[in-house]
Amino acid sequence: MIYFDNAATTMPKPASVTEAVVAAMNSFGNSGRAAHGQSMDASRTIYEARVRLAGLFNCPRPSNVVFTANSTEALNIAIRGLLKPGDHVISTDLEHNSVLRPLYDLAEQGVAVDFAAADRQGRINHDDFSSLLRENTRAIVCTHGSNLTGNLLDIGRIGRFAHEHGLLFIVDASQTAGVFPIDMAAMNISVLCFTGHKSLLGPQGTGGLCIADGVEIRPLKSGGTGVQTYLRHQPPELPTRLEAGTLNSHGIAGLLAAVGYIESVGMENIRAKESALMKRFYDGVKEIPGMKVYGDFDNEKAPIVSLNWQDVPSGELADELAEEYGIASRAGAHCAPRLHEALGTKGQGAVRFSFGYHNTEEEVDRALSALRKICQ
Ligand code: ALA
Repeated sequence: MIYFDNAATTMPKPASVTEAVVAAMNSFGNSGRAAHGQSMDASRTIYEARVRLAGLFNCPRPSNVVFTANSTEALNIAIRGLLKPGDHVISTDLEHNSVLRPLYDLAEQGVAVDFAAADRQGRINHDDFSSLLRENTRAIVCTHGSNLTGNLLDIGRIGRFAHEHGLLFIVDASQTAGVFPIDMAAMNISVLCFTGHKSLLGPQGTGGLCIADGVEIRPLKSGGTGVQTYLRHQPPELPTRLEAGTLNSHGIAGLLAAVGYIESVGMENIRAKESALMKRFYDGVKEIPGMKVYGDFDNEKAPIVSLNWQDVPSGELADELAEEYGIASRAGAHCAPRLHEALGTKGQGAVRFSFGYHNTEEEVDRALSALRKICQ
């Protein structure tokens, strides 16, 4: 099997990640709930993960790293916990439903939402943020990298704009965390939402928010925290303010190991390899007659190539690749409805190939050869 669905979840995980999860499952108690060794082991590992993630993203302090089950939960916490009726928010056509659906929900409750439009190659015009700005604009919410095309937004530039206009800046780093450098302070990011199981190479069920100092998010959930039990409400301090219930300490142990793996290999080396595989694939597929490839390949982007051949439904092409050639891709709409509309692929969807550090040039060549045969 050739796995080219790394934008959905990276696979395989580094052996150190699997080992850390198994070791945690065999030894951890419930973190923050007791002072015995097993509970403390879990607590220390979770704290260490906060420290390392704060370091990775230049988040001001470990306690500002809040763990969630995934970036969808993180984005819901940030978006619903910061915006209120009467606010205006700017987002983009590149967003995943994890941003769009919370925004659409809020739009029904009196939050005004505008989207910077994407063109046929999935690019936005960064000047649009300026023309969409209103007196009551409170926030910009946007992805760092599209899960459909891999196109990147210039979050440094958008962050400067947000800072100049006193806006909150919420970034969805689902497709980029761990492989593209992200510096919350330098990029003026108020809340960075990440998932652990994609480019961070950790287990599914992990993710979180990194929160700048002074950003007060209303809790989405309340419940057990192991501290301040007699308070009727969620404790006000981070991270417990936004964490209720038992944390996924087993997954977080794996995520900590994954960050260690990325640091040992080097983020730049991972990015360079994935980017070279993407380019090799792109250079091959764009020469196949009848092939339409989406995205901006003139600029740095996440290692994704989405395409269609003639008007063949994307699901049919992906199924043939999987069943006849053992190649895993992802077809359909990718939870990115606005971008599919902008690309003109609402009906057909697209077949997405996404590359990971464990893929090889030989796998790319085999996929190219399969596509050439299918498209003959
Ligand atoms: N959001 C994930 C994807 O793009 C699951 O496939």
